[in-house]
Amino acid sequence: MGKDVNLTYDPAYEAAAPDDFPAMLVPERYGKRSTAFDKIISATHDHFWDPLDPKYVDFNQPFDIEKQLIMPAETIIEFKCGVADRVAPADRVKFGNLINHQMLSGILHGEQAALSLSADLCHILLDPGAQEYAANQAREEARHVTGFSNYIRSHWGKPAPMDPFLLKLITEMVYSPLVWKKIVGLQMVLEGLAMGLFSNFYQFSQDPVLKQLLQFTMTDEAFHHKFGKIWADKTIPHLPKTELDKIEDWAWELFQALVAELNSPELKRDIYEQFGLDWRWVNDQVLAAQEKAKQRGSLDKSTSVFRTFIKTLLKAGLITSRTAPKYARLVDVEELRMEGDRMIGDDIADEGIRHLQRINQHEGGFISVSAAE
Ligand SMILES: [Fe+2]
Ligand SMILES: [Fe+2]
Repeated sequence: MGKDVNLTYDPAYEAAAPDDFPAMLVPERYGKRSTAFDKIISATHDHFWDPLDPKYVDFNQPFDIEKQLIMPAETIIEFKCGVADRVAPADRVKFGNLINHQMLSGILHGEQAALSLSADLCHILLDPGAQEYAANQAREEARHVTGFSNYIRSHWGKPAPMDPFLLKLITEMVYSPLVWKKIVGLQMVLEGLAMGLFSNFYQFSQDPVLKQLLQFTMTDEAFHHKFGKIWADKTIPHLPKTELDKIEDWAWELFQALVAELNSPELKRDIYEQFGLDWRWVNDQVLAAQEKAKQRGSLDKSTSVFRTFIKTLLKAGLITSRTAPKYARLVDVEELRMEGDRMIGDDIADEGIRHLQRINQHEGGFISVSAAE
């Protein structure tokens, strides 16, 4: 495969060049509409929500970030490896919530990346059904940007800047003319990671406002994740081995980079400095704790936030014996292979859809539309 070749093994993913608007106006194009996405497009009204309307999420509900951790200490790496013990007890909640601010800022930037990437797909996909799906995803990502912006603004004023390394990675995806890179990068890697991270935040957050925001966001993300699965089912089985290897390697590299940056002590150096800690010392503590956990075999693979993502790639055929040993450091790959398709995030999203249907006063109760189907 040449370096910059689009993979159009299914007509639903054919794309025009970004500067070829006339290609959208070719009369025959309108009639070539795939039905593959109709079900997820028509389900959108079932999980409508509006982050500006307090009947969905009330950002004015009080939560004192000076007195209570948004995420509990057991979920914050600096508390688990002894770093927080060097912070004065009276400052630890503030310290922990600044780390939570950094994490939530990363999520907000991820949502903006998803908005820009789905708008991009909408701009170039030729299939009217795929295009309608992408337009809808862009609309949903836009409300996630609004929701997380609101949450961050109400507690800290503004988000932290995006990590420069991640900025470079995501910018490459946004500017890439390759549909597969945008779909694998957005719908499989970013959406898969988001479902795992959001499930974790939803389960453990001590702030009911954040929990609600996450649950409603997940009702949308579960469908976005589904789009990636549909693409994979229609494309991966037809790929020549060289192309499959290339996508498999790229997905691993992107995932590895995202995971490394997610908890990067260097990124949090400004926070540490406020409490008299050197980021290099923190880095050593974190690495030493991870090494100890590895030696003890106590990395908890069954609750890893990476399970959703890794399972998605595994089921899609994007983890073969070439990369399975790398992922096996984080999860039990064989256990995942034997599991069904449902994930914990699907249950949270389904419960969120039922909640939204009650708010939206749909007649006839819960219409059984699940992103996991
Ligand atoms: Fe999103
Ligand atoms: Fe999404």
